[in-house]
Amino acid sequence: ELGNYRHFMQKEIHEQPRALADTLENVLAQDSLQANIFGVQAESILSGIESVYIIACGTSFHAAMVARYWIESIAGIPCSAEVASEYRYRDSVPNPKALIVTISQSGETADTLAALEHAKMLGHAHSLTICNVPESALIRQSELSFLTRAGPEIGVASTKAFTTQLVALFLLAITLGKLRNKVSREQELLHMQALRELPNKIQQILKLEPEVIKWAESFANKQHALFLGRGQHYPIAMEGALKLKEISYIHAEAYPAGELKHGPLALVDKEMPVIAIAPNDTLIEKLKSNLQEVRARGGELYVFADQDAHISSEPGVQVIRLPGLGGYLSPILHTIPLQLLSYHAALQKGTDVDKPRNLAKSVTVE
Ligand code: M6R
Repeated sequence: ELGNYRHFMQKEIHEQPRALADTLENVLAQDSLQANIFGVQAESILSGIESVYIIACGTSFHAAMVARYWIESIAGIPCSAEVASEYRYRDSVPNPKALIVTISQSGETADTLAALEHAKMLGHAHSLTICNVPESALIRQSELSFLTRAGPEIGVASTKAFTTQLVALFLLAITLGKLRNKVSREQELLHMQALRELPNKIQQILKLEPEVIKWAESFANKQHALFLGRGQHYPIAMEGALKLKEISYIHAEAYPAGELKHGPLALVDKEMPVIAIAPNDTLIEKLKSNLQEVRARGGELYVFADQDAHISSEPGVQVIRLPGLGGYLSPILHTIPLQLLSYHAALQKGTDVDKPRNLAKSVTVE
């Protein structure tokens, strides 16, 4: 089953262009986005929604965090994201006009299922799940659903499930935006075109693997790492840090780069590699000054920068360039090198990549 790959994680990282194309296949076969990709009653339910509440665990929660940026920006609907194990046990204010969205690769995660049940018990009527397993408990228990077509994900570290979840959430943001007249026909066509180009762009980014391997070689002996991102890329920094912890056992933390001065800068010295996600977006100049603060304290910077972000290598600053022009889909593109980085760091350390210690693929108990 592994073909030419050494591990399922490596295979699953490389399967992403196909997984995304499969997930989008039926959706993009139409000349406009149809609300019914989320279920037959989706159009009437989604038209009446006034807020969105997304609940998930682990990597799926990071997808929820990216979606919060998209749904507020594209559809203009208030959106929040919370980890399921917190939501299920706290007193929250029910809103009958909210849409509860759960995200899960397996569809069997105990906390996510319990959180959905809790939401219903509070009086939330409308639920939608984004899930990779047909017939799973979450699909059965949700009013609306979208099935990602990542195919079976065997490695404990989630990779292709995450990027296909993001695509599904992007479709949700556009659908909600269309129903509210926030997305014009012209914008819809541009979004659809960007989605069509996505598998190829990812293919291009996968070709950066040899450069990432060199970085990973210098990581294996590190005890700690800091991941920085801003805006819609902050959750991607979190995902990069989780991946590194999970399979290489290197302690990693993620921060929105604007928070550096509020504490984490104290950790930075020449022993602390700092990985930065530098897309060419409206926050790039702010990010650059955050990176200068790191350099001024001797921190070693590893920057994944868009081609046109104008960041170049210099002593203490290493740069890998991505093709860029990602727009809203840029978080998906920037995820790929971080997956590769953690995979190759783990290889260097000789850990059990597909079955990291103490973890299970599907967390079906609390
Ligand atoms: O199956 P789910 O998406 O509900 O799983 C949620 C988390 O357990 C999962 O994403 C976990 O964080 C991964 N091992 C991360 O790589």
